[in-house]
Amino acid sequence: MAKKKATVFVCQNCGTESPKYLGKCPSCGSWNQMVEEKVPDKTDSRSRISMSGKASKAEQITDITIEREERVKTDLVEFNRVLGGGVVPGSLVLIGGDPGIGKSTLLLQVSAQLNNNGGKVLYVSGEESTSQIKMRAERLELRGSDFYLYAETELTAIQETIEEIKPDYVVIDSIQTMHHAGIDSAAGSVSQVRESTSTLMQIAKMNDIAIFLVGHVTKEGNIAGPRMLEHMVDTVLYFEGERHHTFRILRAVKNRFGSTNEIGIFEMKNGGLVEVLNPSQLFLEERLSGATGSAVVAAMEGTRPILVEIQSLISPTVFGNAKRTASGLDYSRVSLIMAVLEKRAGLLLQNQDAYLKAAGGVKLDEPAIDLSIAISIASSYKEKETRPTDCFIGEIGLTGEIRRVSKIDQRVNEAAKIGFKRVFIPKNNMDGWDFPDNIEIVGCTTLADGIRRAFS
Ligand code: TYD
Ligand code: MG
Repeated sequence: MAKKKATVFVCQNCGTESPKYLGKCPSCGSWNQMVEEKVPDKTDSRSRISMSGKASKAEQITDITIEREERVKTDLVEFNRVLGGGVVPGSLVLIGGDPGIGKSTLLLQVSAQLNNNGGKVLYVSGEESTSQIKMRAERLELRGSDFYLYAETELTAIQETIEEIKPDYVVIDSIQTMHHAGIDSAAGSVSQVRESTSTLMQIAKMNDIAIFLVGHVTKEGNIAGPRMLEHMVDTVLYFEGERHHTFRILRAVKNRFGSTNEIGIFEMKNGGLVEVLNPSQLFLEERLSGATGSAVVAAMEGTRPILVEIQSLISPTVFGNAKRTASGLDYSRVSLIMAVLEKRAGLLLQNQDAYLKAAGGVKLDEPAIDLSIAISIASSYKEKETRPTDCFIGEIGLTGEIRRVSKIDQRVNEAAKIGFKRVFIPKNNMDGWDFPDNIEIVGCTTLADGIRRAFS
């Protein structure tokens, strides 16, 4: 009988295993990611444990009773919304983000809230000492009983502590620092992350404990370690933001218990993270009235409309090919709109440099922002400002038509609420709903029509 190999090569990017070293991973195609790791001991019974923590068997669909998962709401409305309504007991939630973006701060605040509402919390940190966490907690003016801090990276010890304390919520900061004694590889390697996560998953499901994992993000923007981590957990949230801006966006990218379109907006202040309940105001705060190249759109972020300013700077190309950049907007969408503007609205843009941006660092990706992009380009090109109280909503088709968008009523109501006086919408969106009476509605059929009326 062939001797069983004790090690295996594992792709650090996607978790693919191979008995021999390969330069290029056959599965995800990345180079030089294969690292030799010990084969994990597969003899444990872990794989037989079901999601509900009980040994599972096949059942008739008619015999299965639906258990409504109860959600625990924190006082952070934005956090609840991103989770799909609150924390689900027994769920495993991964929070990814750049170092220093505020993941530990967020989870410390969430822990304190859950604690205030009567939950027992264990905060495990592999990155900071308990006194460091206490210092931060004091800065955040958080205190409570039944709130345990624990500086540890060894999983067996953590498991024992969980069994002893019996918390309702556990925070693991971060999964990359955790170490499973049964595995020989270094903390942060694929096998370690996989074993640690599956152990934690088991703990969560068996004891109905909600566990939050912090995951660091690599330069490419993925959670460091394998993609498979994202497949294992119930919910994946990303905490994003620009270092130079104080506000942060919490975005759901996977959620077994809710929608993935939701975002929560926070501002990092001296006293910790503060929720931004009126993001439109925040994004429009620094807007310069009377500037050219600016147009506001009511974009939908999840279930909520947010007003964002689209800025353009169009200037003649001095040398060589025209430069085009887009930040916070999809580059190919911008190119397409510029082509339509050229062909259908007579703007000569081919020898113009174009710099576009969604102000405030948000990322917008939906068709309804097309019209505002076009208007802001036209405004900069013509050097004519739009009215500061105008708002533009609509998708642009290749023949220059303005196409219908979803949730028009919510978008227009948000614009009216913030004080906009006039809103340009697709003509086809005019029927079937009640306009708010403090805003003028301009229905547009074509891009050329929209531009003419916006600048007349
Ligand atoms: P942190 O939560 O440690 O980030 P992460 O866990 O994602 O690495 O946040 C660190 C940053 O947040 C740090 O640069 C300081 C800033 N900060 C504040 O501005 N106000 C505060 O009240 C706290 C606790 C941190
Ligand atoms: Mg941290």
